[in-house]
Amino acid sequence: MDHRHGFRRVAGGLSVTVATRALVRLCGTESVGENDVVRIDVAGRAAVAVSRWDGEYFVSDDVCPHAEASLSAGYVEDGRIICPVHFAEFDLGSGDVHNPPIGCGKLRFYPVTIIDGAVFADLG
Ligand code: FES
Repeated sequence: MDHRHGFRRVAGGLSVTVATRALVRLCGTESVGENDVVRIDVAGRAAVAVSRWDGEYFVSDDVCPHAEASLSAGYVEDGRIICPVHFAEFDLGSGDVHNPPIGCGKLRFYPVTIIDGAVFADLG
């Protein structure tokens, strides 16, 4: 048990559990540069996007809630992830949308934990 984080390590450190939550290891922190967004494929579910802004990491769905665009093909600016197709802007963390095209909702974000230089998220 890692008392610093309150997590129990399992399966060679690739995942951890906290109560009934399961965290998934997505990538090393060095894989996502400042103001960058990277697509991560996850077994058994749709890909996620890992973004970094002002030294903080965020994990969201990779597909834009408006259409089938991959947000990891977009960019991060002023605390928002920008869709590359119709340029909807989503607040990092809350997913609130700005300048949305008709029919575009919020972007779903997931709780993030950094453990030993890796980005984990609760994708439940
Ligand atoms: S596909 Fe992303 S805003 Fe339209």
